Amino acid sequence: MTATTPATARPPLAVPPLRTLHIATWGCQMNAYDSLRMADILRPLGYREVPTDDADMVIFNTCHIRERAAEKLFSALGRLRAVKDARNGRMMIAVAGCVAQAEGAEILRRAPYVDLVVGSQAYHKLPELIAAVEAKHAAVIDTDFPADQKFDFLPEAQSSQGPIANLAIQEGCDKFCTFCVVPYTRGAEASRPVSAIIAEAKRLIEGGAREIALLGQNVNAWHGEGLDGTIWPLARLLETLAELPDLARLRYTTSHPRDMSDDLIEAHRTNAKLMPFLHLPVQSGSDAILTAMNRRHSADHFRRIIEKLRNARPDIAFSSDFIIGFPGETDADFKATMKLVKEVEFALAYSFTYSRRPGTPAADARDQVDPALAHARLLELQETLRNQQHAFNRAQIGKRFDVLFTGPGRHQGQIAGRSPYLQPVVVEHANLAPGSIHAVTITAANPNSLMATLNQEQIAA
Ligand code: SAH
Ligand code: SF4
Ligand code: F3S
Repeated sequence: MTATTPATARPPLAVPPLRTLHIATWGCQMNAYDSLRMADILRPLGYREVPTDDADMVIFNTCHIRERAAEKLFSALGRLRAVKDARNGRMMIAVAGCVAQAEGAEILRRAPYVDLVVGSQAYHKLPELIAAVEAKHAAVIDTDFPADQKFDFLPEAQSSQGPIANLAIQEGCDKFCTFCVVPYTRGAEASRPVSAIIAEAKRLIEGGAREIALLGQNVNAWHGEGLDGTIWPLARLLETLAELPDLARLRYTTSHPRDMSDDLIEAHRTNAKLMPFLHLPVQSGSDAILTAMNRRHSADHFRRIIEKLRNARPDIAFSSDFIIGFPGETDADFKATMKLVKEVEFALAYSFTYSRRPGTPAADARDQVDPALAHARLLELQETLRNQQHAFNRAQIGKRFDVLFTGPGRHQGQIAGRSPYLQPVVVEHANLAPGSIHAVTITAANPNSLMATLNQEQIAA
């Protein structure tokens, strides 16, 4: 005889109360990835994401890379304070990311209505930190660097990212460029093991990913435990990921020229899923400045890497980062940067004037460049870079390549996707499923996007 228990006699399920969550993200793709993981961690506590900052919990995931990036936090906090007041204080405000890591208690001094300051290595502790804020009715700070890497503690990634997904494989930096806060905000270089990376890649693919970008502050310094227990280089990880059948495209970002090893360059020849587009920051074309930056490579070393990559993959294109007005930069140094840019020809680039970051060696240099001069040089560089970007886009007209379609375009009847070079590509009057890949011919080039028609005769996937 089996005893049946009426449903009503069961103890009630512990359903967490429905709470709203808003995460605002600044900074690099690693921060965007971390924000998804924070949402994953908070979902079991009943938090559902909402698009506006009128939420029970608001997290600012911040960037400390330049002064202006860090200041954005305090102006956003000022605005949020009014929202919190309008809710009679019923809002938990958390500051996460690199400003949290760098400034810790200083944030509470400037903005005492903040409830939680959580550094970039402590996200797995969010549930207990929130509980501590609620129990203590006081602000809590956690900016510890745990002995083990945070990825070991985070629950499995849940958020589907759609056809194009990011996957963090490496975090932190041991390079200590003299201008940069990242080694201090993200800690020492750590690499995730291959088994964890493959497991996450499979989940992303189940969630619809056809393209995966492997992320790291120094992604090509990745050297993780392989499936055979030995330490693998990035090229071998890329080879293994390329075997996943439904994955069509692979990328990795951001790379350091010093870690651009020959086997990784060779992967661009042999790994067909690796896209022909590489972000390789050079910062300056002057050897004197590169030395002062502690980049530990010369301008010619960078040129040689570009040449080797072009030999391995003739259709490869490059993007880069530049810092203008680094302490001691002379007209001759700047000219050397312009010379390098004109020789290499970049498809895309990010350039900024040097920003003094407290605690970094270059901040104390006595030969700081006059900001007006730095700005004038930046404008000159940016004009050349912009012309190169437009020329690269125009050179695509008439070319045929595969586009990974992601969803509707801005105007009715349009569908948009990404080229192998990450350019947005728009096709009119087509009804294509997001995640599908189709061969197109490029018909027109705008500064930031391409127009295309479908090649009916050769549907790629
Ligand atoms: N790990 C990458 C870059 C990380 S930071 C690398 O090694 O290149 C992203 C970019 O921000 C850098 O490439 C640099 O161009 C810029 N940057 C970093 N610190 C800066 C500072 N103090 N002032 C201006 N730009 C900076
Ligand atoms: Fe910063 Fe240099 Fe490390 Fe890049 S390599 S994150 S620029 S210290
Ligand atoms: Fe900014 Fe931190 Fe990324 S300082 S660029 S958010 S690693």
